[in-house]
Amino acid sequence: MQALDTQTTIAVIGAGAMGSGIAQVAAQAGHRVYLHDQRDGAAEAGRDGVAKQLQRRVDKGKMQQQDLDAIIGRIQPVANLDEVADAGLVIEAIIEDLDIKRELLANLENLCTGDAILATNTSSISVTALGAGMKKPERLVGMHFFNPAPLMALVEVVMGLATSKAVAETVHATATAWGKKPVYATSTPGFIVNRVARPFYAESLRLLQEQATDAATLDAIIREAGQFRMGAFELTDLIGHDVNYAVTNSVFNSYFQDPRFLPSLIQKELVEAGRLGRKNGQGFYPYGEGAEKPEPQTEPAHQSDETVVIVEGNPGVAAPLIQRLREAGLTIVERDGPGQLRFGNAVLALTDGRMATERAATDGTSNLVLFDLAFDYSKASRLALAAADQTSEAAVSNACALLQKAGVAVSLLADRPGLVVMRTVAMLANEAADAALHGVATIADIDLAMKAGLNYPEGPLSWSDRLGTGHVFNVLTNIQNSYAEDRYRPALLLRKNAFAQKGFYS
Ligand code: NAI
Repeated sequence: MQALDTQTTIAVIGAGAMGSGIAQVAAQAGHRVYLHDQRDGAAEAGRDGVAKQLQRRVDKGKMQQQDLDAIIGRIQPVANLDEVADAGLVIEAIIEDLDIKRELLANLENLCTGDAILATNTSSISVTALGAGMKKPERLVGMHFFNPAPLMALVEVVMGLATSKAVAETVHATATAWGKKPVYATSTPGFIVNRVARPFYAESLRLLQEQATDAATLDAIIREAGQFRMGAFELTDLIGHDVNYAVTNSVFNSYFQDPRFLPSLIQKELVEAGRLGRKNGQGFYPYGEGAEKPEPQTEPAHQSDETVVIVEGNPGVAAPLIQRLREAGLTIVERDGPGQLRFGNAVLALTDGRMATERAATDGTSNLVLFDLAFDYSKASRLALAAADQTSEAAVSNACALLQKAGVAVSLLADRPGLVVMRTVAMLANEAADAALHGVATIADIDLAMKAGLNYPEGPLSWSDRLGTGHVFNVLTNIQNSYAEDRYRPALLLRKNAFAQKGFYS
């Protein structure tokens, strides 16, 4: 399907944060853009805001003044809705309210030409429900941009029950022509990103609630071992707890209160306290004048005279860590075994979702210390460790010393199932697998959405393939056993792939 050509006029209704950004994207792509807002002066203010943003680029020498003038010249504020009648694509980005959006869509249907496409930027309302009152719901499609629209590459092209395939394909092709990375999604709660990302916040919140460690340490582990841009607490402070908590509640309630999406009491309390994050100076962290962000818990230097690491069995994804230890001057001895490292009296193993205490007792392993997943063990600057209750202090110290010899900072956590990065990634992959099974989007589009919409270092399903579906399935099964909670139940597709010994892409 062809993209709309630049001769097609685009209309954007609602000139707030999103509408202005979308108008900028369309104008930068060469379209004439009508910008309408019911508030007097808002459309002009939206256009001025775009000019201000672009001026910064001109000042930095990244854009020519004449290009800025041309883009701004193409954005035309219009006072009356009637003036958008000849637009070929109308994108609404007004207040998130079903009835108000329905009324707008009814008006647009009456005044726009029969072949005009109507698109909604809604992030939480069903496109099917929005189309229900329309004469021709097949011409309504979701065109879900991410904030800030000019910078974020992802556009979810959301198909309601009645959306015509041709309409969705035209919008998909148009988003591509605008330099975006579009993905198709069916109109299900949270679409792709706002659904699949829930565990990213939920698992850190849960670990904080269970006093695994503090917020700054969890954030540091997610960044430095997981290679995510931000930890869950930094990110929710930035998003605003009111907004993030509302999305969680919306997804939870839309899925008939499936425990998988259970909101967090800690976040509820922050909202109740008015600690909304950066925007009002206090969230998990303080942001006022002179406020200092707390340091993550980092183990002091541990000494060990040991020089030999015995690698028992296949280290799997942790193989680059062995290489780092070798490069640090340690002697590596390989022999058969269950996939673990021995350093002096310490036994180190990658978490399989069981608490160290339970695993040590069940497997009869003395002095067990579990380590967390890293996105890339050859680069991770920090790793989380958790020791079994039965493990001696000397063994814990040896385990810390070993990682420190490889230049890895160690955060020692209380013994909780699945540690931090492993648990988060397993739950992200689980949600992604469930979304794929339910036909929300293709496997490739889900991974693309999580990378382009949230800057994840890797799509959860390709990450799961790298870890081995069997390992992810084990981790989830073990976490589910630990809590006896439905929240951690492995998704059917993950379970099936684990038994078929295959990945999502193979
Ligand atoms: P906003 O509050 O910044 O802007 C909304 C604008 O719509 C306001 O200027 C308001 O005057 C105008 N408006 C309200 N009712 C109107 C009507 N009947 N006709 C014309 N104009 C009307 O809101 P924001 O953040 O730009 O969100 C807009 C839409 O985009 C919502 O549906 C929201 O869910 C969605 N969205 C928001 C994202 C975000 O991060 N803020 C991300 C993706 C989607």
